[in-house]
Amino acid sequence: MYVPIILGTARIGRQSEKAAKYMLAQTKKYGFETELIDVRNFRIQATDNSKQSAEAKILNEIVKKSDGFIIVTPEYNHGYPGELKMMLDLLYEEYTGRVVGLCAVSIGPFGGTRVVEQLKPVMTELHMHPIRESIYFSKISDTFDENNNPFDKTLDDRVKKFLDELSIYAKALKETRKN
Ligand SMILES: Cc1cc2nc3c(=O)[nH]c(=O)nc-3n(C[C@H](O)[C@H](O)[C@H](O)COP(=O)(O)O)c2cc1C
Repeated sequence: MYVPIILGTARIGRQSEKAAKYMLAQTKKYGFETELIDVRNFRIQATDNSKQSAEAKILNEIVKKSDGFIIVTPEYNHGYPGELKMMLDLLYEEYTGRVVGLCAVSIGPFGGTRVVEQLKPVMTELHMHPIRESIYFSKISDTFDENNNPFDKTLDDRVKKFLDELSIYAKALKETRKN
């Protein structure tokens, strides 16, 4: 299974990168093939659904190989970063039949719960299938030590449960896909 991790913010000083790198390590450990897909490499001037840009072509190659995605995104004003949406909007039906797991990051106690709820209908419109489990990285400044290991040892178990659900749907959806 190839399940890349999308890091959803290009902000300078982004703390979500720590959460994305942790998810990358956990996903590899779980046995999925994966890599980090950084929205910084998909920045475009304006929404572009022509599918002709270099960015769209690169993303299309990644999507074609993929069985699903994990998105790690901060919550910005109760929504998702604009650059994440612009990147996702580069493609449309190409995403068909991919499972998606959502991970949200915030500096405060709520862990980005609102961005997860905002993203779910977007995923559905993009023909993807969001799973029920999500990972909420609340108080991100206090979540990881200097080696990017979580202070809360229950986090690894919660991520395992999240990846178990992702795995079930990735396998089931593979059967349904022509692409
Ligand atoms: C434009 C902007 C809007 C934000 N809005 C929210 C918000 O609605 N809810 C929240 O919990 N944190 C919000 N934050 C703070 C983020 O939780 C914080 O920056 C955290 O470190 C995750 O984002 P990062 O990856 O950009 O660092 C916002 C931050 C920015 C830059």
